[in-house]
Amino acid sequence: MKTTISLSTPSQVETESLVAIVLDNTDANSAAPKNKDANPQLAVETSDAGVKAPAADLLASGEVSGKPFESNLLHKPAGLKAKRLLLISGGTARKFTSYELRRIAGTAVRTLKARGIRSFAFIAPPSIPAVEAVRSIVEGALVGNFDPDYYRSDRRDQKIDALTILASGNTDKDALEKAANEAQIIGESQNFTRDLVNEPSNRMTPTILGERAKKMCDQVGLKCEVYGADKIKELKMGAFWSVAQGSDEPPALIVMKYEPAGAPEKPVLGLVGKGITFDTGGISIKPADGMEKMKYDMAGGATMIGAMRAIALLKPKVKVIGIVCATENMPSGKAQKPGDVQIAMSGKSIEIINTDAEGRLVLADGLFYARQLGCTHLVDAATLTGAVVIALGYANAGLFTNDDAMYERFHKANNDAGEKMWRLPVDDEYKENIKSTIADIVNSGGRWGGAINAAMFLKEFAEDTPWIHLDIAGTAWTEEQKPWIAKGPSGIALRSLVEFVKGFAN
Ligand code: BES
Ligand code: MN
Ligand code: ZN
Repeated sequence: MKTTISLSTPSQVETESLVAIVLDNTDANSAAPKNKDANPQLAVETSDAGVKAPAADLLASGEVSGKPFESNLLHKPAGLKAKRLLLISGGTARKFTSYELRRIAGTAVRTLKARGIRSFAFIAPPSIPAVEAVRSIVEGALVGNFDPDYYRSDRRDQKIDALTILASGNTDKDALEKAANEAQIIGESQNFTRDLVNEPSNRMTPTILGERAKKMCDQVGLKCEVYGADKIKELKMGAFWSVAQGSDEPPALIVMKYEPAGAPEKPVLGLVGKGITFDTGGISIKPADGMEKMKYDMAGGATMIGAMRAIALLKPKVKVIGIVCATENMPSGKAQKPGDVQIAMSGKSIEIINTDAEGRLVLADGLFYARQLGCTHLVDAATLTGAVVIALGYANAGLFTNDDAMYERFHKANNDAGEKMWRLPVDDEYKENIKSTIADIVNSGGRWGGAINAAMFLKEFAEDTPWIHLDIAGTAWTEEQKPWIAKGPSGIALRSLVEFVKGFAN
């Protein structure tokens, strides 16, 4: 999708479709008690009276509720050079932020491409600062432009090819173009990640994931090494290997390095991803129902690969190392068994209670290895627990950290990137849950606080290094299609990660 910034008057723009946002300006305090039948005060978000005019009758008709994502399409709108006018409601004006704007841009893309339209012009709402608006529109549009129907014979392959953003006011066009370019890199990287996550396990083995990472790194000028079983054993990654040993597919340890000229020695940021290309549960095998979803158990790893792509193209002046521990988790005659004791790379002994708690095992060695490579700050992303879905549902990813200052930085990045994550505790009290009689720790602390127990396990390997753990089990896959996003891989966390890394460079 090609993106252009234009400062033209919207009503004068020739396009397949003009897209404008409708907001409800009803003052919440004016009518108390509020009459729920009162007509919403709907207005098109633009300073161009030429666009307001053809929408006026519709908005006054009472047919438009103003509820978020409601869409109305007018053909041959009077007084406009555009062939169509698509009005998308954004809800209450007071609550309208760039978070909603991203989703409206995605909705515009999905509504128009479903009709076979390939280009349109989007009116940036004047209520949001222009640079922020441009960024949100481009990112949201790219999210909406992705569809996962890759293997369908009836795939229509409809995409929006060209987006024009109509910014108003005497804004600095260069700054807007820079924002659009950066957003394009980030949005395309997010879709690159989603492509990796979407592939089923027979087409996305650890070896193939390593090849895809290597190819990307070659294209964007990153150093990349993909190691196999020999190296994993040589590094004494006993926790990672304990998962890999049960599979006929060879594991891959993917190491990507971004070391820009002029970057300070420190900090070195480590991005560590869980890359389980299929999680059967191993000997503690999962029920058949829904097991097919475990093809997306490499989403954390794919997120780190996509984030490294964006970082390499955006060129912030900070060192970053990306590490993905990729393997299948399979039952077999060679597979580890409950009760086995494994020695992690750090030297800690682990009693395996449940072979289905495999993500924390591969990450234990990934996190420790990142520290050995010199990382001063760590972020991991993983589809780690069903328990995080019980705790937070599908709207928020779980965030865990041993460092309040790092949390503040990351939380700001979340907000700027328009992603929702919610902090959960890793207090010492929970350490009880991962005690073992025979070894240092167990790999499963039981049901209660399951997402926290998993984080407590990882914390043992981050030790004193400032660390953030993102449990994206509930958010990496969109279970139901939404107006702004297709059902399937979401690419969650990539935008926050990139924003977080950029923050370190300033
Ligand atoms: N990959 C799963 C977690 C998961 C669940 C991801 C649902 C996406 C959607 C993970 O490896 C797992 O199996 N976790 C177990 C841990 C338990 C055995 C302690 C779980 O959550 O049940
Ligand atoms: Mn598992
Ligand atoms: Zn798993």
